[in-house]
Amino acid sequence: MPAAALSDVIVLLGATGDLAQRMLAPSLYFLDADGFLPEGFRILASARQAVAPEEFIADLKADLEARPEPFNAEAWARFSARITYVAADATTAEGAQALKAAMGEAAAPMFYLALSPSLYVRVCAALSEAGLTAAPARIVLEKPIGRDLESARVINDAVAQAFSEDRIFRIDHYLGKETVQNLIALRFANTLFEPLWNNLTIDHVQITVAETEGVGERWPYYDEYGALRDMVQNHMLQLLCLVAMEPPADMEPDSVRNEKVKVLRSLRRFTRHDAQNWTIRGQYGAGLSGEKAAASYESERGQESSVETFVALRADIDNWRWAGVPFFLRTGKRLPERRTQIAIQFKPVPHSIFAGAAQDDLIANRLVIDLQPDEDIALTLMNKAPGISQGGMRLESLPLSLSLQKAYSGPGSRRRIAYERLLLDVLRGSSTLFVRRDEVDEAWRWVDGVEESWKEAGMTPKPYPAGSWGPAGAFALIERAGRAWYE
Ligand code: BG6
Repeated sequence: MPAAALSDVIVLLGATGDLAQRMLAPSLYFLDADGFLPEGFRILASARQAVAPEEFIADLKADLEARPEPFNAEAWARFSARITYVAADATTAEGAQALKAAMGEAAAPMFYLALSPSLYVRVCAALSEAGLTAAPARIVLEKPIGRDLESARVINDAVAQAFSEDRIFRIDHYLGKETVQNLIALRFANTLFEPLWNNLTIDHVQITVAETEGVGERWPYYDEYGALRDMVQNHMLQLLCLVAMEPPADMEPDSVRNEKVKVLRSLRRFTRHDAQNWTIRGQYGAGLSGEKAAASYESERGQESSVETFVALRADIDNWRWAGVPFFLRTGKRLPERRTQIAIQFKPVPHSIFAGAAQDDLIANRLVIDLQPDEDIALTLMNKAPGISQGGMRLESLPLSLSLQKAYSGPGSRRRIAYERLLLDVLRGSSTLFVRRDEVDEAWRWVDGVEESWKEAGMTPKPYPAGSWGPAGAFALIERAGRAWYE
């Protein structure tokens, strides 16, 4: 395959917004500090607001100085010299012309749409009209792409009018997280796990994305989407795919993405009956966030709402490898702790040779992959408790841990922002860690099925107090399958 052209300018649309300021600008700065931005690479920041370029750059500097990482004056000097700010409404012909003028001689732009997805169609049309979308121009789209299959298709069709699929980079920032990529390494760079990675040895899988934060000011967006569309359709299904996919032939974009699509296609569709048994929606009421009182979602929202801020469900993958292995997914806002975790629960030993107390000590092995707040991978193994006891041998379960924090905590090591990896990949034209159009479609098809079954079954969100692990039904759901959430 010929090497893809390196981008020579990033046109950052929505540059005054939260995502650009909290994640994208710092990511670019860190990439530059580590020498990853090519010489002559430019950053064209743009938003509708009329801000003086010096003011934009000064604000950016203040943000970077306020970060916990040490500020690198030399890197900043190089980085700030790359930045231009242009006030433009990229949904209009004039706006696109203003961008074009500011882009000057740029031959390989990457357009980053840090904008509301409702603007994607118009921005693509305006950029195309201005003649800015020809190869090798790339476009980066944030989630959510639509709010169901139909609206996603409208957006994807419109983007496809302007950019070919190999130049469209749909971001799921979870794929940029170190431990998520490590999952690929764990599975396919070790011989140990693959023979065990199936329904003969694995009992079930749990994926938890718990957040302590509430929705707060983001309710205008959130109230239209809810937890299923905001988290499950993208981040959680991506994690599920990486756990469940067959080994790809190589790390080429289509090799990996073909395997993920096969998993999505094998997800069992929900019926109304399934929805009642195997899903639960929740919405936080007033309660606690740590020690502090936390308001209910509806009081943040300012009116009644039927959107879920918590969802738990059992997903089944109907294929040879995973038949009979449930995947339990749960995610929610205002839960007691921040935790993103994948737990692979192995089956118990087929027969115990241990008598007496040790018989009860036996706990099946579990592989726990922690993504947040700390990154770690640990495999629990049974071990003989040291010493002598009356009733014979005692056993205990101990973790064999990769201790990722310790292993990589040398001088200069820092936890990268997930967007750093992803921005660099766009710049180099590598789309393995981006979501292909058919993945988006398949994920929506399944999620639309869940939504429909909720409607048919008349399932509204059950209240749970802020600071709890969701409605009681979340525990009932997993207990119904004879398992328990891993705490
Ligand atoms: C975003 C969701 O995509 O991911 C947010 O829109 C959520 O609602 C966030 O809080 C979680 O990301 P992270 O990286 O903090 O786990």
